[in-house]
Amino acid sequence: MEKLYKLVLIFGLPFVSCESDPCMTGNYEVLNDWERSVNNAHGSLCDFSLSNGWYRPISLVGNTMPTECPVNGFKCGTSVPIWMNGSYPLLGETIDVVACASHYNGDCCVDAYDIQVKNCGEYYVYNLKKTVGCRQAYCFGTEVKCAVGETSDNGGFTPGCEFDPCHPINYKVLNGEVKRSSNYTLQPDDNAIEDSRLITGWYKIDSATGNDIVNESVSMGQCGTLYPVWMLDTKLYTVYASNIF
Ligand SMILES: *[C@@H]1O[C@H](CO)[C@@H](O)[C@H](O)[C@H]1NC(C)=O
Ligand SMILES: *[C@@H]1O[C@H](CO)[C@@H](O)[C@H](O)[C@H]1NC(C)=O
Ligand SMILES: *[C@@H]1O[C@H](CO)[C@@H](O)[C@H](O)[C@H]1NC(C)=O
Repeated sequence: MEKLYKLVLIFGLPFVSCESDPCMTGNYEVLNDWERSVNNAHGSLCDFSLSNGWYRPISLVGNTMPTECPVNGFKCGTSVPIWMNGSYPLLGETIDVVACASHYNGDCCVDAYDIQVKNCGEYYVYNLKKTVGCRQAYCFGTEVKCAVGETSDNGGFTPGCEFDPCHPINYKVLNGEVKRSSNYTLQPDDNAIEDSRLITGWYKIDSATGNDIVNESVSMGQCGTLYPVWMLDTKLYTVYASNIF
């Protein structure tokens, strides 16, 4: 025990002076604001209350601070966006660099902040300073949100936004049509269901008798109609014709 104590005395001090690596989890704060994208013109972000320290941006819009001035401001979800006037460090290196606030009056460096950037390989971390005033915020990334009703492999952000039939604005709801059940037989006093009147488009079925298109052949007169339509594999069939679409 005494030996161990001596070892700590001899070797302990040099370890205390080791600097912590800002690349390591726990040594940085996470910034997850898609609004900081340089291509986002809306918002009123303010880094006046940001604590000085290391940050790792992780949002899906991208994680690098732009190195070109967002001229005339009103980008990055704020009025006076902050960009990096310099170039990125090589792998493992840390650089001191000036981050400039671009005013909407055209001044690309109305305020300058001495920040640091470290290249951690898969990502960068940034030693940021709180801003001197409001409506100033650091920019990160370039992608933007997909339009309402679109989706993408990038979690709803560009690139690759495409029409999303699952989004409620893109489908109609067909509800209460229990007579469409394959178990229901058309009765003499029924008005046969007639889908030539259906508006072409995406539908969500909400019915007590089931919501999936029937995947086995159905007899004439079932499903509340004369000629029911069913599906096998990816093709639609009806009693008098196969593969009708
Ligand atoms: C960016 O940095 C360069 C080199 O230090 C300097 O000449 C230039 O004026 C800076 N740009 C702005 C907008 O401050
Ligand atoms: C429809 O009929 C089948 C077979 O007779 C039965 O298994 C099924 O539960 C019925 N479905 C409904 C919704 O009544
Ligand atoms: C028909 O649909 C049911 C329920 O979704 C499924 O379990 C069954 O495998 C399907 N049959 C065929 C032939 O696709």
